[in-house]
Amino acid sequence: MTDTDRKTIIVTGATSGIGLALIYRLRDAGYFPILTGRNPEKVSAMARETGAPGYHLDVANESHIQNVIAQIKSDHGPVSGLVNNAGIWLEGAFSTHSADDIRAVIETNTLGTMLMTHAVLPDMLSTGRGTVINVVSTGALYTRKMISVYSASKWAIRGFTGCLEVECAPKGVRVMGFYPGKVNSSMYETAGIARDLDVAMTPEQAADMLVVMLKDEGMVWSHVSGRSIRDYV
Ligand SMILES: NC(=O)c1ccc[n+]([C@@H]2O[C@H](COP(=O)([O-])OP(=O)(O)OC[C@H]3O[C@@H](n4cnc5c(N)ncnc54)[C@H](OP(=O)(O)O)[C@@H]3O)[C@@H](O)[C@H]2O)c1
Repeated sequence: MTDTDRKTIIVTGATSGIGLALIYRLRDAGYFPILTGRNPEKVSAMARETGAPGYHLDVANESHIQNVIAQIKSDHGPVSGLVNNAGIWLEGAFSTHSADDIRAVIETNTLGTMLMTHAVLPDMLSTGRGTVINVVSTGALYTRKMISVYSASKWAIRGFTGCLEVECAPKGVRVMGFYPGKVNSSMYETAGIARDLDVAMTPEQAADMLVVMLKDEGMVWSHVSGRSIRDYV
């Protein structure tokens, strides 16, 4: 298979949770997934485990994005798809957050998604094909207390995704948003929040939906949302 035949899909934040499950699902579905993440040791370990090429890519670092995307293109040829999955959680009363906490969430969840998209979109538009999926959240469909910054970071991406969808679809490029409910991943634990995730969907269930969205290139799955049936209480 040549570089132009294969479907190379970059996944951000692929060292755990939805992103890691997606690497396996993409591989099983015949794609060529590229595993990226902010922690170099985890990237190496997960690249070894999955067999996917791994790249250290911190989406909150603009020069990093430019350099790594250029390297991926040079190593593997054109990029068919990007799944903007990297994200961090922040919970608590707004007045208790530090400026650094707020900045980290916006730089990762919001700016990271926009700048990653900015780095791959020109090639997609010039060839008239390609797919960008943003992993958003049901937190961008409603408002509730204690998640103001996380919610704002994802509401911004809801608007970004919808606007780019209608801007790019006439040029053959699909931009879609996936809005999962609670997922049984390490996101809350990483943020120091204890949460009962017994009722949550699995990362694999989320990854399965992302593969469905990717597969039919004749379809734009605009705003796809879902949660585990056990999560209705
Ligand atoms: N879990 C939920 O209930 C839920 C619900 C709705 C939407 N989501 C969204 O789903 C996406 C995936 O989250 P998850 O649930 O799978 O959580 P997860 O297991 O914590 O995965 C998040 C991944 O993003 C990586 N990451 C964080 N900051 C990054 C950065 N600056 N650059 C590159 N990678 C970075 C993490 O790296 P490390 O391994 O180094 O931490 C991790 O690999 C996120 O966008 C999240 O907002 C999650």
